Amino acid sequence: MRHFLTLKDFTRDELQEMIDLAIRIKAQTKAGEYVPYLKNQTLAMIFEKSSTRTRVSFETGIYQLGGTGLFLSSRDIQLGRGEPMKDTARVISRMVDMVMIRTFEQSKLEEFARYSRVPVINGLTDSYHPVQLMTDYLTMLEFGKENPVVAYVGDGNNMAHSWLYLAAIMGFELRVATPEGYECDPEVVAEAKKLAERYGRTLILGHDPKEAVKEADVVTTDTWVSMGQEEEKEQRVKDFAGFMVDKDLMALAKDDAIFLHCLPAYRGYEVSEAVFEEHAEEIFTEAENRLHAQKGIMVWLDQHRFDDAEIEN
Ligand code: CP
Ligand code: NVA
Repeated sequence: MRHFLTLKDFTRDELQEMIDLAIRIKAQTKAGEYVPYLKNQTLAMIFEKSSTRTRVSFETGIYQLGGTGLFLSSRDIQLGRGEPMKDTARVISRMVDMVMIRTFEQSKLEEFARYSRVPVINGLTDSYHPVQLMTDYLTMLEFGKENPVVAYVGDGNNMAHSWLYLAAIMGFELRVATPEGYECDPEVVAEAKKLAERYGRTLILGHDPKEAVKEADVVTTDTWVSMGQEEEKEQRVKDFAGFMVDKDLMALAKDDAIFLHCLPAYRGYEVSEAVFEEHAEEIFTEAENRLHAQKGIMVWLDQHRFDDAEIEN
């Protein structure tokens, strides 16, 4: 069985298969054709953090595929009162067909997956947000960015880490600019660089947003204060001075560059109101694509639920 815990657990061909499924299912959905790929299946969705997009897209997605979604906030289930993750996994995975989890440490997600009888999907952890990046890849393709130069400006967080793996495996140029002290996790960088070598691309990491954005095809950023970091807000806002994606910074990118944001967006911090509104079509297509990309991932995992092959990546 295969789980979807990080992008580095998959080859380029496998990620491409998921994207191809997403493209096909999106076209079918847009034509009003709801193919029940996951008929009668139940997806449990465990949330230890807030969500708008992840919840709505997974719940709607499983429904459109012929199944049912179960929203399980950790405030309401015994997990929130201290029932161990491994027991929660052994109970829930005997009753449902697939599980999505949004939690804090990646190790908690991995523990759940170890004890689960069904495929587990990462719906965001402190370390990664892989379903978002599959969505962003699909969105770039739709906007004609086939072999893009992507600039990520901001925090070296879960989004940045997943961008590193996506670029390394799919083979496009990624330039990451973070403030000093907010760099990506060195272990993730080392892993991503190894993958990039195998797949033939370079990853560029630095501290200068202008250098990163120059002639880029895609510019992206994320909140400076991720969920769980609320108390650091004041310090972070000071430390991220000069990292807002505003008109002056966007002007350095290619004329037809797109701007992506996983949302929620904080105007006046990581992005200016003007840049956000000018690129609203791309941003909200990206948000909608959560629905389609995740359907591709769920159907792929269902098709591989009896695989025991561990891939070498
Ligand atoms: N981008 C994203 O994951 O949004 P939510 O936190 O609303 O799910
Ligand atoms: N880095 C953000 C992403 C939100 C979708 C967070 O973890 O809160």
